[in-house]
Amino acid sequence: MKKTVLVSGGAGFIGSHVTVELIQAGYDVVMADNFSNCDRSGYEGVKQITGREDLPLEEVDFCNAAQVHALFAKYPIDAVIHFAAYKAVGESVEKPVMYYKNNLMSFLNVLEAAQEKGGCNVLFSSSATVYGEPDAVPVTEKTPRKPATSPYGNTKQMCEDILRDTVKASGGTVKGILLRYFNPIGAHPSALIGELPRGVPNNLVPYITQTAVGKRPCLNIFGNDYPTPDGTCLRDFIDIVDLAKAHVCAVGRMLEGKMKADCEVFNIGTGRPLSVLELVNAFEKVNGVKLNYKFVPRRAGDVVSIWADPTLANTEMGWKATRSIEETLKSAWEWELHLKNQQQ
Ligand code: UD1
Repeated sequence: MKKTVLVSGGAGFIGSHVTVELIQAGYDVVMADNFSNCDRSGYEGVKQITGREDLPLEEVDFCNAAQVHALFAKYPIDAVIHFAAYKAVGESVEKPVMYYKNNLMSFLNVLEAAQEKGGCNVLFSSSATVYGEPDAVPVTEKTPRKPATSPYGNTKQMCEDILRDTVKASGGTVKGILLRYFNPIGAHPSALIGELPRGVPNNLVPYITQTAVGKRPCLNIFGNDYPTPDGTCLRDFIDIVDLAKAHVCAVGRMLEGKMKADCEVFNIGTGRPLSVLELVNAFEKVNGVKLNYKFVPRRAGDVVSIWADPTLANTEMGWKATRSIEETLKSAWEWELHLKNQQQ
């Protein structure tokens, strides 16, 4: 029988790509979102890519316990992937209560509903931000977490701990996987779904594509005096489709009883460090566009260098990032051009 996966925050950037991959892998998916940080285009795009006109969409506020319980009562949920959360680092510093309330409450409601149902497989979307500025790179899952430098980062650490404790107390009925994403970028090759930042983008690649298309006058590169080969920060940029496929592997691992512990952690990255400047140069080259950029002082709170050791995900989950940075940056640009065409 087909298994059902609930995707909270399913209409967002990562959620929509994960939904596509789950459907294509043969799962029934319930997409749930409150559309607080995205519109319905992600849902429409997923339907178009997969041909699943009947894809269930539930408008749910995960901070509302009654709504979350109703959702679990309505569908035979075998696994839940929890994305529904706020994610802007700077905003979390300004509005900590809003971040703690939203990110913790929504996850607690999911866990409570899962427990009441008698158990569930829970996949939590965590972040490399939990490693802070690591003492050594690449980071493995055993690399110690560092104290969070923002309320956003703290919510990721707290939710990791909450899931671990819940799994431990459940006597095996709740199982958990924490996926720690590095820097997800790019868009679906169909250019029908992608990242839709509201307002001025915080993240690098949306800022690059918006500058290239003329929405922004100039990209600011934060710092070129770091102790790295070209002076700009080093990151592990991971293609969004590769990242989405990691979720299919993780869900399969949970549902097929392949887990080696009731709560597991995996780094989801390429293992390939790339500097901000290298990424900018690659974007210009592969897309044949000239980018207006300048170097400005460092951004507060930025980590100098971080990239993944993805060996555990490669060997244990049978997942590996496969797309080249060129393919990924091409897809990011095609998505921006798709948005431009839509507006005309
Ligand atoms: C950030 C968050 C991380 C979160 C992730 C979500 C911090 C410290 N980390 O990662 O917790 O999970 O976003 O995607 O904020 N850059 C520029 N110019 C720009 C934008 C970025 O030079 O306009 C540089 C940054 O200084 C950084 C790199 O590009 O060196 C990547 O930045 P970004 O895309 O914001 O991701 P992170 O900061 O790595």
